[in-house]
Amino acid sequence: MDTKALVFPTLISTLFSLSVVASVTASLSFNFYAASCPSAEFIVRNTVRSFSSTDPSIPGKLLRLVFHDCFVEGCDASVMLQGNNTEQSDPGNRSLGGFSVIDSAKRLAEIFCPQTVSCADIIALAARDAVEIAGGPVIQIPTGRRDGMVSAASNVRPNIVDTSFTIDEMLKLFNSKGLSLDDLVILSGAHTIGSAHCSSFRDRFQEDSNGKLRVIDKELDSSYANELMKHCGTSASPSVTVNNDPETSMVFDNQYYRNLMTHKGLFQSDSVLLNDNQTRTLVENLANDQELFFERWGQSFLKLTIVGVKADEEGEIRRSCEATNA
Ligand code: HEM
Repeated sequence: MDTKALVFPTLISTLFSLSVVASVTASLSFNFYAASCPSAEFIVRNTVRSFSSTDPSIPGKLLRLVFHDCFVEGCDASVMLQGNNTEQSDPGNRSLGGFSVIDSAKRLAEIFCPQTVSCADIIALAARDAVEIAGGPVIQIPTGRRDGMVSAASNVRPNIVDTSFTIDEMLKLFNSKGLSLDDLVILSGAHTIGSAHCSSFRDRFQEDSNGKLRVIDKELDSSYANELMKHCGTSASPSVTVNNDPETSMVFDNQYYRNLMTHKGLFQSDSVLLNDNQTRTLVENLANDQELFFERWGQSFLKLTIVGVKADEEGEIRRSCEATNA
């Protein structure tokens, strides 16, 4: 076996990861809690594992949570703060979940290492572990994020992508967070796990005069569209959900991209990734090569989890993730 062929890509991706981290902040590090709280990562991993073993929807919830945390005010746990008009109260965040997992890991961390482990780090580590538990790649991420003091509902809309966005609109937002078009394609692969409410893709259907749904989005495979309409008919309760990935909904794999190739992307914002000339080739490559997806996922996920981090003297280490210390 050519060991150089194995070592070289790993070395390149490690160097890439280190250079990205170094360029964003010198304050995060891969061993941040080694002296102050050696059990920090173990606590998070065990908590995520334990919650996921009784509720299989947890990995999807935790993975979406880090995206919504990092895009609004940076990865600073602003999404955890409770109160009037905080981020959680915005309709764009209403279907978020996994908060109890973060709170539980934080309570344990407070017992072993009081006021040491940030909620922001717990959110990032929990999402990382959720991917691994669902069968995805094992990734090292740096820690040392500090918790923010600001959480405003009005910050959510301008910073979260809507399924009706064009590629250019999504790219503009991703670019504003230091993420590229490739990162957009790769991080959208998160939709290989988890589920969505019917309201998230209803705009792809229209109700006819007899109250029946008809597909209006020609990008959808017709048998897949029929299945969706069966689940999400006009009489369906607002709480009904469908799997993001109709084939392997519990497994973090590259099936998402294979779904796109067969016109089974659930959201309009998924389907556009196949139809746009700038993104189609990457979608095809990821659909054909799971190893490539896992390697690129590691790099893009790392970039996501360092968006707008607060470090050093900024922010604080909260005592409870639900409220600032003041
Ligand atoms: C690129 C634009 C994106 C759009 C428009 C988008 C939109 C959505 C929507 C509408 C839902 C369904 C919510 C619901 O009805 O409950 C969803 C679910 C989800 N999203 Fe995204 N998303 C995007 C990117 C991402 C990224 C970057 C990640 C993480 C890295 C992510 C992770 C997830 C996960 C895991 C779920 C399932 C959540 C669950 O099971 O509770 N999404 N997304």
